[in-house]
Amino acid sequence: MLTQNQLKCHLHLLLLVVGVCTNNWDLTLADYSRLDFPSDFVFGAGTSAYQVEGAAFEDGRTPSIWDTYAHAGNSGGANADITCDGYHKYKEDVQLMVEMGLEAFRFSISWSRLIPNGRGQVNPMGLQYYNNFINELVSHGIQPHAVLFHSDHPQILEDEYGGWLSRKSVDDFVAYADVCFREFGNRVLHWTTFNEANIFSLGGYDQGLSPPKRCSFPFGIKNCTRGNSSIEPYIAGHNILLAHASTARLYNKIYKPKQNGLIGINLYTFWFVPYTNSIEDRLATQRTIDFYIGWFLNPLVFGDYPEVMKKNARTRLPAFTKPELVLVKGSFDFIGFNHYYSLKIKDKSSSLETNIRDLIADIGSDGTTIGEENTDPNQYPVFPWGLQGLLEYIKQAYGNPPIYIHENGQRMKRDNDLNDTPRVEYLHGFIGSMLDAMRNGSNTRGYFYWSFMDVYELLYGYDSAFGLYYVDEDLIRYPKLSAHWYSGFLKGRNAVDNEIFHQVDEKSSASS
Ligand SMILES: *[C@@H]1O[C@H](CO)[C@@H](O)[C@H](O)[C@H]1NC(C)=O
Ligand SMILES: *[C@@H]1O[C@H](CO)[C@@H](O)[C@H](O)[C@H]1NC(C)=O
Ligand SMILES: *[C@@H]1O[C@H](CO)[C@@H](O)[C@H](O)[C@H]1NC(C)=O
Repeated sequence: MLTQNQLKCHLHLLLLVVGVCTNNWDLTLADYSRLDFPSDFVFGAGTSAYQVEGAAFEDGRTPSIWDTYAHAGNSGGANADITCDGYHKYKEDVQLMVEMGLEAFRFSISWSRLIPNGRGQVNPMGLQYYNNFINELVSHGIQPHAVLFHSDHPQILEDEYGGWLSRKSVDDFVAYADVCFREFGNRVLHWTTFNEANIFSLGGYDQGLSPPKRCSFPFGIKNCTRGNSSIEPYIAGHNILLAHASTARLYNKIYKPKQNGLIGINLYTFWFVPYTNSIEDRLATQRTIDFYIGWFLNPLVFGDYPEVMKKNARTRLPAFTKPELVLVKGSFDFIGFNHYYSLKIKDKSSSLETNIRDLIADIGSDGTTIGEENTDPNQYPVFPWGLQGLLEYIKQAYGNPPIYIHENGQRMKRDNDLNDTPRVEYLHGFIGSMLDAMRNGSNTRGYFYWSFMDVYELLYGYDSAFGLYYVDEDLIRYPKLSAHWYSGFLKGRNAVDNEIFHQVDEKSSASS
């Protein structure tokens, strides 16, 4: 005798795809369409400057810390000197967006392309490129959502004063943002100051896994030669918060009254659930959430760092002055989240005295990812409910601020196989999970698939990719099955009952 859920799964298999039912997630059974979302909700996709533009040494651009890092061989020999050549192919790419039916597009501006010396003179060719790109989007009715900082700090400022470790970076960032608002703000109405502010601080200064590759023994990568994992991530994070808040103040005072746009910041987050139901694991989970999300969101919403951070990191965590608190609190119109998968958290309080990552808990060790394990190690485990969990938590703990899902996507080995069925399943699951959260009151305003096309990936180079389009050696773009699915969805087809799913279904039944 089948239980109701098994029965639904059984029926579902006939309709849909093998695999999703084991997630025990009811929404996979429910169909939905674009019309179930508010009409002012936006669906888009995204890329970032360093990852897609190429033309790394053209028209006056100077290196960012990512160019330096990649050229030093830190990315398995790969770099983004050419990548998708988006710098030259932007018209063709906007055409693909139009055909797909994207309502919005998320991209970042390369600081060192626009202002090659980090401060001062604006590069007219850089200015022209972003004007052209933004005009191309707007003239086709696609909303531009711009990110000011997607990890690619100008190398020249890193060399001059140590980048985000110095308070000087705040003024230079605000001056750069000022140029962007002045030049592009009549067309760009959605501004994100920092992409993954928390992961930039953790990866670059605690783990040393990404530029500027700073950490200290015994933390982070092997052979870290410079940095201090105990204090630098907090200092960088603090300066980033101040830079964000000072930029938002500038925008609100000078630009918003005439441009009427919105400004926010973006954080990366897993969703976290306790490994067991023990009080220790549940406390460790809350601690992890506070260190990952609260680190930035508590100052922004409540005006100070979470108590658990102040207690555990003590004087290593910089303190806000009174005027800084006033500046930071409430300095956003929306929060962006990048979310890919979820983790189970085991308590590890024995390490509470160490660096951030070890401080909070045992994160991401073997057996702590959630969801159906894929046989393909390139793929993320799929746990769509994690997104709903995240959004519900933000609603309840932070007073339901406006949210954009800025990145969400399935990683797969980068190859020319266009039948990316797992990516279609992933999209279907996560968009459905987001819809569930919204039906329960989450103030989510938009969803951007990462990534529009296969780009140079910051963590994986060209080994794995997330794109809706495959890009071959000749830089020709080919739509994958996921591009067809997303396009169908955007054009009003039902998520389940559309030809793509039947196509998927036929493929999976043929192979099973
Ligand atoms: C670390 O340094 C040691 C000694 O200099 C060297 O043998 C080893 O290859 C280095 N490891 C990495 C990951 O760079
Ligand atoms: C990191 O900074 C702290 C506080 O200044 C200091 O006590 C510690 O020795 C430093 N660690 C390293 C590896 O420099
Ligand atoms: C829906 O929202 C209510 C009120 O915030 C909350 O108590 C409940 O747990 C939420 N349900 C789910 C499934 O998240």
